[in-house]
Amino acid sequence: MESLVKSLREELPFFKDGYVYLDSASTSLTPKLVIDAMIEYYKEYRANIGRGVYYAAKFATYAYEEAREKVAKFINAKPEEIIFVKNSTEAINIVARGLNFNREDNIVTTLLEHHSNYIIWLNIGKIRGCSIRIAGLDEEGNIDIESLISHVDKKTKIIAITQTSNVLGVKTPIKEIVKIAQENGSLVLVDGAQSVPHMKVDVRDLNCDFLAFSGHKMCGPTGIGVLYIKEGLQEHLEPLCIGGGVVEDVNLDDYILKKGPAKYEAGTPPIAEAIGLGAAISLLSNIGMDRIEAYEQILTEKLIEGLSKVEKIKLYGPRDASKRAGIVAFNVNEKDPHDVAVMLDERAKIMVRSGCHCALPLHKYVLKAPNGTVRASLYFYNTLDDVVKLIEALDKMINFFIS
Ligand code: ALA
Repeated sequence: MESLVKSLREELPFFKDGYVYLDSASTSLTPKLVIDAMIEYYKEYRANIGRGVYYAAKFATYAYEEAREKVAKFINAKPEEIIFVKNSTEAINIVARGLNFNREDNIVTTLLEHHSNYIIWLNIGKIRGCSIRIAGLDEEGNIDIESLISHVDKKTKIIAITQTSNVLGVKTPIKEIVKIAQENGSLVLVDGAQSVPHMKVDVRDLNCDFLAFSGHKMCGPTGIGVLYIKEGLQEHLEPLCIGGGVVEDVNLDDYILKKGPAKYEAGTPPIAEAIGLGAAISLLSNIGMDRIEAYEQILTEKLIEGLSKVEKIKLYGPRDASKRAGIVAFNVNEKDPHDVAVMLDERAKIMVRSGCHCALPLHKYVLKAPNGTVRASLYFYNTLDDVVKLIEALDKMINFFIS
């Protein structure tokens, strides 16, 4: 793994100039082979998909569908179950807007969620009149499964939950939650934005109904994401957007939509980006998701252990690194998190995110940190040296500039 990481870092921005990138939960860096795959499309076979009958159009269509097959294999789905979207946010919006809710229904989500998997449900509650139930967390920030169970009943249309928190890195027991949902006839949507890039996610094993994730957090380009829709559910989910490419037939006053992914991919899709995501998935698959998860686990342990020892740092989330992914939120004394992030950048060339990380309910009601937190997040191209640099920089900052 070390030699692979070393050679990858040589082609990524920042590292060779001595910067430390610790913001992969926000967006990951893009390896050269992903950029090359997109350039190849633009230079060699730049044509639209699913329309033309000439060589380049057919080749572009083949490459786009090949990317869909790679995504499907990556999460153990069928290609027909994979919809290309803009990002996780759009994927979740498609599900929320496309299901048929009525006033008696309720929706269960949690205090762990990113706004992408939170405010859209509040919005559905407002426009469809159904109630929104929010499951709580335990004192470490893990999902409180008893609280979740108490919110689910026969009128629960859907449970919308993240698999990994984008702030605390905690993981949720999706299989257990799917069982609870099924006992009540409810659907489960999994926000996989922070899990799919870092661990093996198998939709058949999870048995979830929907899974959303973004390409740009898994070495792919921006502008491409994935919505997995379990077979059989597409007929119960209206598309968010219709127009070119989605119709089987159109008459003067009616139309028939296609079946399958095309139903949800109106207009010219992000072709180069899908191809780029396919290349990123080949890279991740070649390395092996189990290997990536194990490597990141070692870095996470060191990060938590190191930060715990720095005086005046308040760490959020479980101390047991095995319970979480490589996303660690903290605060330094009473310091504004943005000031800490600026200092890390300017004085130590370390990039972290600061603020509420699109998770205001979590910051306000659980962490009691309404001004936010500083967040360091890892990916498999980070090293122990990156972790050590962050810990040393914070230690130095606290001693010299803060105390
Ligand atoms: N969802 C991204 C994050 O957590 C942007 O930073």
